[in-house]
Formats: sequence, C-alpha cells, structure tokens
Amino acid sequence: MATKTHKAVVTASIRGALEILEVPTVAPGAGEVLVRVEWTASTPLDLHQNDGGLLVTHPQVLGDGTSGTVVEVGDGVKKLQVGDKVFGFTWREQKEKSHQEYVTVPEYLLGKIPQGFTPQEAVTLPNNVVSSFHALTKDLSIPLPWPILPSTPKPEHSNSPILIWGGSSSVGQYALQILRHWGYSNLITTSSPSHNTLLKSLGATQVFDYRSPDCIPSILDSVSSSGGLKFVLDCIGSQDGSLTPISKLVGKGARVAVLLPVIVRDGSETVEPIYALDAKEAVEWADGVDVRGVRTHFYLENEVFKERLQPEIMPTLLAEGIIKPNKYRVVEGTTLLERAQAALDALRRKEVSGERLVWKVAE
Ligand SMILES: NC(=O)c1ccc[n+]([C@@H]2O[C@H](COP(=O)([O-])OP(=O)(O)OC[C@H]3O[C@@H](n4cnc5c(N)ncnc54)[C@H](OP(=O)(O)O)[C@@H]3O)[C@@H](O)[C@H]2O)c1
Repeated sequence: MATKTHKAVVTASIRGALEILEVPTVAPGAGEVLVRVEWTASTPLDLHQNDGGLLVTHPQVLGDGTSGTVVEVGDGVKKLQVGDKVFGFTWREQKEKSHQEYVTVPEYLLGKIPQGFTPQEAVTLPNNVVSSFHALTKDLSIPLPWPILPSTPKPEHSNSPILIWGGSSSVGQYALQILRHWGYSNLITTSSPSHNTLLKSLGATQVFDYRSPDCIPSILDSVSSSGGLKFVLDCIGSQDGSLTPISKLVGKGARVAVLLPVIVRDGSETVEPIYALDAKEAVEWADGVDVRGVRTHFYLENEVFKERLQPEIMPTLLAEGIIKPNKYRVVEGTTLLERAQAALDALRRKEVSGERLVWKVAE
C-alpha cells in the first residue's frame, strides 16, 4: 500500500528560503492522535532556526504551535476523540512539528479548545504558556500549585517585586497573567509605552520604557523599599537589550531566568545572527546572582505538567478568562509556503510588537 504523505514547511539551509517537502503522514500509535493542522503561529524560534541554524539538521520541519482537528486516534487514547478541536505545543520530532498539514502527537501534548475561542486565538497560547509555567516553577522556583483551592496558602513572595523584562512579548504577556492569578501582586515590566494599558490589564503594576535612559534608575528606585529585586524573568534574551540592563538591577540572592538563546547579535536581511546558550557567561553579573537559561523543551520532566499542563490547566485558564490570548495578526498568502515565508520575513524585519503571527496551514 502506498505511504500517505502531506506537505510540510522546512528550513533547507541557513538563511535560505523556506521550502515544501512531502513527508509521511504517520498513523497514530498507542496514546497518540493524528491532527489535521488548521492554524499555526510563527515564533522567534523559527527565525533562530532558519537564519541561525540553532539546533537544526537540514531539511527540518519548523513550528511548534498546533491548532486543528483530531482525525484519527490510536489505541488507549482516553481524553480525545475524532472531531475534537485541539491546540498544543508540539515540537519534539518531525511528526509533531506544526508547520505541516498533519501532526501525530501523544494526547498529553494537546488540550481541547474551549467553546467560544477560535483556533487562531488558541494557537497563540501553547508554546509560551508552557514556557511561562516551566520558567517560573523550574528556573525561578516560584510555586504555581494546581488547582488553587480556598485552602491554598498565599504565596510566600506574593508582595516581592518580580520583574518581567519584555512584558509585551508573547511569553511576557502570559507570564504576567499567570503570576497575577497565582497571587503575585508586585509585577514590574518593561515594554514600548504603547503597550502600557494592555500590560496593566494583564497584571503589571508598573511598566517602564526599556528604551528610556531613566529605565534602570526608575526600576531601582521602585524596588528599593522592598529590599531589591529577587526574581527576574527575561523574556527577550538579548545580550545588549535585556541581559546587560538586568545585570545592573540585581545583586546577591537574586534569581534571573533567561529565555534562551542569548541573542548576541540580531540578524537582518544582510547580517547573520549570533547566538549563545550560556546566559551566565553572556554578561558580567554581581557575585551571588543565580542565572539560569530557560529550556522549555524539558517541561515534561515535571510529571504533573506532563499529564495536566496542556490537557487541563491551559484550556481551563483560557475558558475561565484567567488568561486572554495574545492579539494576533493573520499572515496572508495564496500557498502554504507563501504564508510561512511571509511570517518569517516579518519576524526578521522586527515587525512583531505585542502580537503573534498566525497563519492557515491545511486548506
Ligand atoms: N528557551 C525557551 O525555552 C524559550 C521558550 C519560548 C520563547 N523563547 C525565546 O524567548 C524570546 C521571546 O519569544 P516570544 O515569542 O515571546 O517573542 P515575541 O512575542 O515575538 O517578542 C516580540 C516583543 O519583544 C519585545 N522586545 C524586543 N526587544 C526588547 C527589549 N530589548 N526589551 C524589552 N522588550 C523587547 C517587543 O516589545 P515592544 O514591541 O514593546 O517594543 C515585542 O513586543 C525569543 O527569543 C524566543 O525564542 C525561548
């Protein structure tokens, strides 16, 4: 019998144009489902991989945000059935990568899209909701117990200042909303001033303009009465644009979690990007600062998150209005390849500000 195939978007060479490859449609094995991918999102990782070759073996299918319909279920699947509308962070191997017409994934990487939400809205969540939970709990040791019960005690650091550098990024917006829900009430962030109102509506108590020369003195002033900053989530990872300023804000005893890679030099149409993977070595830190590089790809090591984060926690937070999806922009194009390429080009031109780029996969 002929093997079924479908179209996938691949990075084929460093800084080259994206290409389409026919890849096998893998029948779901035990515990897996086959999903027709209807919408996906393009994220900075696609750019890091295409332009910087970060963790890539060519030709490699891109994408890790899936939104679509279950079309086949494997043995032992318990929570999903054919016809379910699902969303998830799916990334580990070719059959799971989301920039293709079908993905084959275990059901623990998917949640059902709650009533009232479109697949475009839903696909803005998975990779950065998962990244926020992983970075906050694993790298900053901020507990986010699930479920929150009336008996759940107030968190120990509920009034301590927590800095989310880059609040208007997708991951920054989700981290703010998650921290607010878990009772953290002193959330400081940085962004362009145009996002002040949005970020305050998501839980930020103060928003500072990271391009202003007053940014660092103003943050230092704001945290001085609390004994300084003890927790920082760097959602940008730029050597000059976030790590250097953050290094001026923290001292002994502070924990800093940096979303990798460290961007040593941003790429453009004419310049190659440069990345590093050691946030501690990237800039000079004061003695006693605990700097961690965030690697969300390890979140499945947490058994509770493996079983519950995508299937249960993420859909519940969305359904109950605790988390609002990112604003999104639909990237148009007449073919799958055109849409994928247009999204990547927009990322390279640094057009993304407070929004997620989403595009249609299966016609
Ligand atoms: N290692 C991991 O596990 C992991 C997981 C997820 C994401 N990441 C990485 O995290 C980074 C962010 O991802 P994302 O999807 O959230 O990005 P994104 O939404 O595309 O980020 C765009 C935002 O970045 C903001 N920004 C740019 N430079 C800034 C600076 N110097 N200071 C403060 N804000 C700045 C912009 O703010 P304004 O428009 O307000 O100026 C813009 O809103 C990417 O490099 C990604 O690869 C890593």
